[in-house]
Amino acid sequence: MPDCFKSIPMKKLTILVLTVFLLTVFSFEKSYGQSSINIIPQPKHLSVGHGNFDLNEHTRIWIVHPDKLKFESQYLADFIKKHTGIKPEIISGTKNEHLKNVIILQLTRKVSGNPESYSLKVTKKQISVIAPASKGIFYGIQSLLQLLPASFYASAHEKKWRIPECSIQDAPRFSYRGMHLDVSRHFFPPSDIKRYIDMLAMYKFNTFHWHLTDDQGWRIEIKKYPKLTEIGAWRDSTLIGRYGRKPVRYDKKRYGGFYTQDEIRDIVHYAAQRQITIIPEIEMPGHSEAAMASYPVFACTPGPFHVATTWGGFKDIYCPKDTTFRFLEEVLTEVMGLFPSKYIHIGGDEVIKYRWENSPFCQQLIKKYHLKNEEGLQSWFIHHIDKFLSAHGRDMIGWDEILEGGLSPNATVMSWRGIKGGIEAARQGHDVIMTPGGYCYFDHYQANRKFQPLAIGGFTTLKKVYSYEPVPKVLDSVEARHILGAQGNVWTEYIPTFKKVQYMTLPRMAALAEVDWTPAKEKNWPDFQRRIHEHFQVYKALGYNYCTGSYAVDIMIQKSAKSDYKIVLSSEIYHPDIRYTTDGSRPTAHSEKYRHPFIVRAGAKIEAAVFVNGKLMEEPATKVAK
Ligand code: ACM
Repeated sequence: MPDCFKSIPMKKLTILVLTVFLLTVFSFEKSYGQSSINIIPQPKHLSVGHGNFDLNEHTRIWIVHPDKLKFESQYLADFIKKHTGIKPEIISGTKNEHLKNVIILQLTRKVSGNPESYSLKVTKKQISVIAPASKGIFYGIQSLLQLLPASFYASAHEKKWRIPECSIQDAPRFSYRGMHLDVSRHFFPPSDIKRYIDMLAMYKFNTFHWHLTDDQGWRIEIKKYPKLTEIGAWRDSTLIGRYGRKPVRYDKKRYGGFYTQDEIRDIVHYAAQRQITIIPEIEMPGHSEAAMASYPVFACTPGPFHVATTWGGFKDIYCPKDTTFRFLEEVLTEVMGLFPSKYIHIGGDEVIKYRWENSPFCQQLIKKYHLKNEEGLQSWFIHHIDKFLSAHGRDMIGWDEILEGGLSPNATVMSWRGIKGGIEAARQGHDVIMTPGGYCYFDHYQANRKFQPLAIGGFTTLKKVYSYEPVPKVLDSVEARHILGAQGNVWTEYIPTFKKVQYMTLPRMAALAEVDWTPAKEKNWPDFQRRIHEHFQVYKALGYNYCTGSYAVDIMIQKSAKSDYKIVLSSEIYHPDIRYTTDGSRPTAHSEKYRHPFIVRAGAKIEAAVFVNGKLMEEPATKVAK
């Protein structure tokens, strides 16, 4: 015992040692936070050790070949620097098993593996991310970054972080993992698009479906047709409030914007570095009011037309004339020059056939080519475009309406009106992306609409997204192979700002990421609840706007006895502190705590809410037992 302690009585000394020990443990916990693993999407195989790797000012990033993984190593170094102030040195050379305090990024010699697979191993000495291709390395880095606690993301510039020992072998379930964004109804500048791509990258999405044209705005510069952006990118006014609500009001403000080809090239490159392919969508033959306003000669009637100022469908669509096809082919040629993606999306949804029905020219075409009707004409239109894209080495994707009148040979179908279109296309041997409205439309409400900002409708909670299984049960194993994956769609009629894009997509995007990545049998809602709770803290630290609708309470009432009712309260939140009343009064942090289902008499008015540290998280849910 050191001399300085000799004068302290034994009992007091024990207390002192214990206090110092507890303080150390607590300050450690406080500094380093989480002790468990919160990766989303859940890796395929994960085992957790007991120790930690210390990330500090001496940590280096090691790449074996100096000419490979340049972007990935710099990305990791920049990320660490941004959030900690530490600038890890990047070194290269033969891998050394004995080297300490290094993060090794290494491509395997075997290139036959799934390029999106990776292994991540964290020991006290080293971290290694090993993969057959840069895709896997990038995903390994994302998992590694998610091993750090939320406080890391708050950029507190602490210089010491603990990363838990673990071993991960991982690969995605689906090859297509997509998120969409409509930039026509509302426009988001390139900087927002990059932030969106960052969000996608965090959750290992590999596809960004960029909905670039629609009735309310044409958003991509086409050199050969400058009026598309001079005229088509701008509308005179925008509907205020919900579509269909009376009286109809407009803001009378000119609104618009577009991406120059240089901006698009820059964004495509930014996404590609983050292993995200951008699929551009150029809508045809419908949703083309902005194009009609720019070039009325491609319509069935003389016009004039205006860029739409309200939502819904419009009857002025492309007229299938030779000149229209030439225009579309020239537009698509510029689009293909900007986007190296295998797929080009041509829309094809919600085509109002009124103009075709009333056009002698269209009726003549239907006769000439022995088409059945206007649906047949639409199919003929889409076949033409499919042939053009195929001749240029690209594959066409369209919304499930392209099934009507006969599917074109090389078409991939996006099933959005439920899953029927997806089933039909897969049975015909076509590839399918599943985006059914009830699970994958993130413009829907996600919690009680009474307390939510305006949305288009629907009710798609986090749990519902998580429950989604992209492969319809009715498909056999050969047909099932045509289901390439699922995509979340973000239509922006009621999403005017990027803050609201974040609100509508977070946390639902995280649930979809797990649907797309994790084997179905490894999905686990309670464990996802635990992990998403940590991600909420990361969103907060990063300043992301996210929906806290998961804190809402769901009240389930079941008839129990003659005039008794069983009340079951739940929330999407992990281990929620639910407080409730049964007399219709507003619950407070001191109301009865919900521990298990309880019985009430008929007429009892249940009000319940989740509290965190005494703070009400969402407006109380209310139901009467009857
Ligand atoms: C769509 O939602 N109209 C594809």
